[in-house]
Amino acid sequence: MDAISVIRTKRDRGRLSDQQIDWVIDAYTRGVVADEQMSALAMAILLNGMDRAEIARWTAAMIASGERMDFSSLPRPTADKHSTGGVGDKITLPLAPLVAACGAAVPQLSGRGLGHTGGTLDKLESIPGWRAQLTNDEMMRVLREVGAVVCAAGDGLAPADKKLYALRDVTGTVEAIPLIASSIMSKKIAEGTGSLVLDVKVGSGAFMKNIDDARELARTMVGLGTDHGVKTVALLTGMSTPLGLTAGNALEVRESVEVLAGGGPADVVELTLALAREMLAAAGLTDADPAKALADGSAMDVWRRMIAAQGGDPDAPLPVAREQHVVTAPASGVLTELDAYAVGVAAWRLGAGRARKEDPVQAGAGVELHAKPGDVVTAGAPLLTLHTDTPERFAYALQALESGITIAPQDAASVYGPSPIVL
Ligand code: URA
Repeated sequence: MDAISVIRTKRDRGRLSDQQIDWVIDAYTRGVVADEQMSALAMAILLNGMDRAEIARWTAAMIASGERMDFSSLPRPTADKHSTGGVGDKITLPLAPLVAACGAAVPQLSGRGLGHTGGTLDKLESIPGWRAQLTNDEMMRVLREVGAVVCAAGDGLAPADKKLYALRDVTGTVEAIPLIASSIMSKKIAEGTGSLVLDVKVGSGAFMKNIDDARELARTMVGLGTDHGVKTVALLTGMSTPLGLTAGNALEVRESVEVLAGGGPADVVELTLALAREMLAAAGLTDADPAKALADGSAMDVWRRMIAAQGGDPDAPLPVAREQHVVTAPASGVLTELDAYAVGVAAWRLGAGRARKEDPVQAGAGVELHAKPGDVVTAGAPLLTLHTDTPERFAYALQALESGITIAPQDAASVYGPSPIVL
């Protein structure tokens, strides 16, 4: 077998055989297939697609590239959630402790932000002392003692995906349904969760820009999970405007703590509860009441223990960026558009995200929203506050926002206020 014949098969719109798939994933993981060969193959897959059987085999090969975890010794059923990525998507932060407070064990292996989308680990690292990197034994201990753990996947879990995802990110090959589905599901299946709820984002700030692609991605992932014995369900949720009122690491932690304290923006609370209900149902905990666990402080209690178990101080003040710049409404009327992609790029340029995977992020950087689509705004009133430690970035962030804000005359605008849950 050789890489060139595998690339040619997909380049010429052929089907990859099981042997070709097993060989290329294994050889790439071992460094026998070079990055430039794998990037050519990834581009051929992006352009020419894969059928269901090819995706299933590709996913199985990625799982087989590393170890598998096993939570069967835990006394509680396991439930996990994965979002395909968005702007202001801090839902994992309140959701993991909430679902644990309702009786499930939540082993939440999470990632870092890249590009315009944020990453759960970067957000939690803004809490002084908190550690993302745990050994498998430490992860089990936190799960046993607290019920929820949010940490980075160990090096042994789906190593083929680690290499391939980093490569796709710099070769314009992220947005391929077979590659996204196999990337997410190989990690989740190898992780060993009993049930999984997928939050498939759709809209300008998501990888899937339209509902048909999002539905196809959701169906593909649900099929992969089910075939591997993981009870898998998916929600398609909107990502055309940021979730909540913040995009940025410490800003999003602050908002998540507000939700755990019984407040926070309505869309974040609504989506957190919807995903919690799905996770609890998938784990067989149908009597649990997540709204009560949020209201009575038990979810907050798990959050505090979860942060402390990973070295964090839940009472420490969160970092604040050194400089702020207020963007005011250019006209009076109804805010009809505050584009998720524009806000995500602005937060990224302010320092909340990274351009290369080794770049540091600024804990305090990001965008705070003072209005959401559907709100009436007055000319000159604050619309956004931009936060950064490096004020020379303001102009660059403002450029990203230029075409992302639309205000319509109040009488011309129809009532606008979509639920984050679109299906
Ligand atoms: N998240 C992943 O883990 N992989 C992808 O390919 C896209 C989003």
